[in-house]
Amino acid sequence: MDKYAVLGNPIEHSRSPFIHNNFAKNSNQEMEYGKILCPLDKFVETVNEFKKDGGKGLNVTVPFKEEALKYADVVLPRAQRAGAGNTLKFEDGKVYVDNTDGAGIVWDFLRLGWVLKDKSILILGAGGACKGILGPILDEEPKQITIANRTFEKAQLLTKQSSKIVATTYDDLNIQNHQYDLIINSTSCSLHGELPNISEDILKKATYVYDLMYASKDTIFIEKAKELGICNVADGLGMLVGQAALSFKLWRNVEPNATETLELLRKSIK
Ligand code: ATR
Repeated sequence: MDKYAVLGNPIEHSRSPFIHNNFAKNSNQEMEYGKILCPLDKFVETVNEFKKDGGKGLNVTVPFKEEALKYADVVLPRAQRAGAGNTLKFEDGKVYVDNTDGAGIVWDFLRLGWVLKDKSILILGAGGACKGILGPILDEEPKQITIANRTFEKAQLLTKQSSKIVATTYDDLNIQNHQYDLIINSTSCSLHGELPNISEDILKKATYVYDLMYASKDTIFIEKAKELGICNVADGLGMLVGQAALSFKLWRNVEPNATETLELLRKSIK
């Protein structure tokens, strides 16, 4: 049977096996999908072994996404642009790397009916998660993307990607007090039960609020947005399923029923 897995460290709580095994079921694919805890200094050895055992593809997660790029023979355009890879495919003796994270969030916006064209977008955070989504969001032709980050220089570096991107600090953001159509939290704050330093005045003016993090209940950021009266809120569970569906398509050349799997996943984590 064709073998796939998600590889990372830590990996215990990964939802990818649940998602891909559901995809396999709902699209009648004969395959198995597991998880691999990879030692921090053994990425190449661990992937080599999986490949030698006949593995067909891997999802790669934190902290190996940059190593995945270096490992591949063929870097597909989305991975090139993000500077990181989340999907490896082993075919005809070659290793291909793609990055479906950014396309995953765009899939989720489509599902939610949130249109990005000509909209003003604010992204909080300028780490790996922000880098991964930036290119595909730019492809949706927003009016402008403002990136606010605690370490200003990291946001400033990302402005090189497009004249539509501007960088700012939280202090300037809060002073300027603009209205943004969509605010995306790409920081790791919600993981630690913290809020990024954005003022309530800005948050409450947004039409849409998205947190890349997810949990069994609302993240603290989503909770705050709801408290301020924003109805259009979403967490990153949809993006997770969206990126998985695109990896699945790359491997199997079949589009799984991602919406059904998202509903099942939501129920299972509650
Ligand atoms: P990476 O994804 O590159 O490994 P990370 O260390 O996980 O990065 O952090 C992700 C993002 O969350 C970064 O933009 C980080 O801001 P800095 O670049 O200034 O470190 C942001 N972040 C983490 N904790 C934060 C906090 N308490 N307030 C605001 N931003 C925070």
